[in-house]
Amino acid sequence: MYQIKAKIIANRRITSQYYNLVVDAPQIAKFAKPGQFVNLCISKGHEPFLRKPFSIYRVGPKNVRKKSKIELLYKVVGKGTDILTGSKTGDYIDIIGPLGNGFVFPPKTNQKQQSKIILIGGGIGVVPLLFLAEYLKKHSSFGISVLVGIKSKEESLLIRDFDKLDCQVKVAAEDGSRGFKGLVTKLLKEELGFGRSSSFCMSYTCGPSLMLEKVSKIAEKNKVPCQVCLEAYMACGIGACLGCAVKVKNGASPGFKYVRVCKEGPVFDSRQVIWGE
Ligand SMILES: Cc1cc2nc3c(=O)[nH]c(=O)nc-3n(C[C@H](O)[C@H](O)[C@H](O)COP(=O)(O)OP(=O)(O)OC[C@H]3O[C@@H](n4cnc5c(N)ncnc54)[C@H](O)[C@@H]3O)c2cc1C
Ligand code: FES
Repeated sequence: MYQIKAKIIANRRITSQYYNLVVDAPQIAKFAKPGQFVNLCISKGHEPFLRKPFSIYRVGPKNVRKKSKIELLYKVVGKGTDILTGSKTGDYIDIIGPLGNGFVFPPKTNQKQQSKIILIGGGIGVVPLLFLAEYLKKHSSFGISVLVGIKSKEESLLIRDFDKLDCQVKVAAEDGSRGFKGLVTKLLKEELGFGRSSSFCMSYTCGPSLMLEKVSKIAEKNKVPCQVCLEAYMACGIGACLGCAVKVKNGASPGFKYVRVCKEGPVFDSRQVIWGE
């Protein structure tokens, strides 16, 4: 984990609500793994008081200085992200990372039957899944299916990037403006139905909590292991304040324990998580 003042290389508006922030952070880029995040100190003033966590979306590009940059993709939702939109190329930003534990990769398999991985992202939750897809394409021969859940066209962000990686991408738009009409969880049920689940050795998901809970249940029912990247309100981001604690199952009495999403997570085996508490 490093704390650095990183030079901003670009802070581009992609759509009305989404921005792509690129910073020069060689130390963080070198060790970053899919599913990990960084904690940004957005303002030099008192507001927002706390750092803000963002998933690492990309490291590289390879052709400049090897793995010197990290990229984030953020949605403007409140004061902090609104202030962040004002950051300019050449400014410096205080950044801590890489933080947390990333996704665990499935063991290599010789069985053709179980040679696929399915990624399920909701809204801005697709961000760490793109980094994961790039990593898996580079380091494994698994086929990758991606289900992207969006509310409307405006949210269809990384679909072309997954396409370029040769992933099989399907979009579920709640308003029917693209692809499948409805929730991504409904699309997932179809994807894993009719015995098709046996071709998947692992599922990974990131998005709103309710979606993660539903995805976990569908994956469990279809006997596909599932790793969830949890959302939580964070303060320190380094395991010191206990502000992000969630309950997980524990064999010993009383049957649960608390873990810190920022330190032991944000990625967990879905079967461990106690949902809705
Ligand atoms: C591990 C992790 C990775 C993340 N990765 C990304 C990412 O790649 N891109 C991205 O855009 N966002 C990501 N987020 C969420 C991001 O941290 C928040 O959107 C951001 O902190 C909001 O700051 P703000 O000051 O603009 O909004 P605030 O004023 O703090 O809040 C505005 C609204 O957003 C909601 N909100 C704020 N923080 C969270 C949160 N942690 N979880 C759920 N809802 C929240 C609030 O309830 C409120 O409705 C991530 C969060 C975590 C914990
Ligand atoms: S945010 Fe402080 S312990 Fe997780």
